[in-house]
Amino acid sequence: MSVLPDSEEKAAYVERMFARIATGYDRVNRVMTFGLDQGWRRTVVHQVAPPVGGRALDVGTGTGDFLPELAAWLQDGLAVGIDFTLPMMIAGRPKLQALEGARAAFVDGDALRLPFPDNTFDAITTGFVMRNVTDIGQAFREMYRVTRPGGAMACLEVARPRSPLVRFGHRLYFEGVVPWIGQVLGGDRRAYTYLPQSARAFPPPERLALMMREAGWRHVTYRLHSLGAVAIHVGAKV
Ligand SMILES: C[S@@+](CC[C@H](N)C(=O)[O-])C[C@H]1O[C@@H](n2cnc3c(N)ncnc32)[C@H](O)[C@@H]1O
Repeated sequence: MSVLPDSEEKAAYVERMFARIATGYDRVNRVMTFGLDQGWRRTVVHQVAPPVGGRALDVGTGTGDFLPELAAWLQDGLAVGIDFTLPMMIAGRPKLQALEGARAAFVDGDALRLPFPDNTFDAITTGFVMRNVTDIGQAFREMYRVTRPGGAMACLEVARPRSPLVRFGHRLYFEGVVPWIGQVLGGDRRAYTYLPQSARAFPPPERLALMMREAGWRHVTYRLHSLGAVAIHVGAKV
């Protein structure tokens, strides 16, 4: 049975769901991805290479997993994570407290109406968020608007492996095992049933690249990682 909501209910559904799973979110992520997720985030930050002393924004930051990596690149610059689910950021607060001396902050806000002036950030990251927004094009346009010319954006999302055999194994794992991991370690089977279903409904990487271009991003490229289970798209504002 589908747990995907109608589009107009989606934002409220997504917020409620992440509020429910906030405290177990990191634990489930590490186990479900065999610990690969942090490496993917490091690759994303490496792709946008924020300048020392600059400003970076992580959109849909959740528990802020991108922020320590961004802060390490920026040094005395500023790393901002924005999300509309407060409990996710509350669960991630210890990560900011551990960043001795580094400047990082959470902001409560919507990816579709970013509360920042044009041309504010040198680099933007976003991970596992575009599947959850009601208007991917608008999210890409907003990220483009707040990026300064010369800046870059990288988007990490789930993808579906291309090889039929890997795709079959991936589907068994994602649709059969992941909801069970979510139930045992995160106490919420429904949220981790939504995950593979939202992934199936998500545009394939080539379509996502086109949507980025339509939003204004230039030099858009993408690479598949981990046997094609995730894709990292990168674009520049020229
Ligand atoms: C799967 S989590 C990803 C969290 C984090 N980026 C990571 O890599 O683990 C998706 C996050 O996107 C947030 N989100 C979804 N739609 C959003 C929107 N329109 N505005 C702000 N945050 C949003 C959710 O609240 C949730 O915390």
